[in-house]
Amino acid sequence: MSSSELFDRIAHEIYQQGYCVIRQALPEKLGMALAREVRTLPDDRFSRAGIGRQADYQNVEAIRRDEICWIDNSTPAGQEWLLWTDGLKQALNRRLFLGLFSFESHYAHYREGDFYKVHLDAFRGQQNRVLTVVTYLNPDWTDNDGGELLIYPEKSGVPLLTVQPEFGTLVVFLSEEFPHEVLPARADRYSIAGWYRINTSDRNRVDPEL
Ligand code: OGA
Ligand code: MN
Repeated sequence: MSSSELFDRIAHEIYQQGYCVIRQALPEKLGMALAREVRTLPDDRFSRAGIGRQADYQNVEAIRRDEICWIDNSTPAGQEWLLWTDGLKQALNRRLFLGLFSFESHYAHYREGDFYKVHLDAFRGQQNRVLTVVTYLNPDWTDNDGGELLIYPEKSGVPLLTVQPEFGTLVVFLSEEFPHEVLPARADRYSIAGWYRINTSDRNRVDPEL
């Protein structure tokens, strides 16, 4: 699938249903570079993830257990990823007039037993995170390794989708609309989660490009 075919498909499915899951979507070379990089970054680049609202440490631990490392242009794979996600941003803006403005993303490492309980990535009306992108960097993932991403309909209930965190799978969804969770992993699970934001600058506040 060429990148323009891929971006067309993502735009179409976001327009139709607000989410899409595409296997083997991430360009192979980029995926390999990211998969290698996330495993070679020193441990001290990762920190325990937080959650949106200020909550105490025990509270956070009950909700999510992954460790994250924000991605920037300082590493070769990070640079290539940011170029690719910028291409996706431009394609979606051209096709859907979403007005996506900035992008932030992090590597996430879930160790055995780590999970992320049901949550939304953005709260309606706050106009911060508009579109979530997740991709997986696990070449040898098996059904026994757990760590599935479950995506729920807006009002929760029965999952719409169960996604295995397999290498190259790409998940995109509207951040305000779909509650989701990560089931406990039974092996080291590597992913990238990223968010496009719209420009929320107004007369009193300038929204910095991240
Ligand atoms: C997140 C998230 C999903 C995943 O980091 O907000 O929902 O499958 N990640 O890693
Ligand atoms: Mn999330």
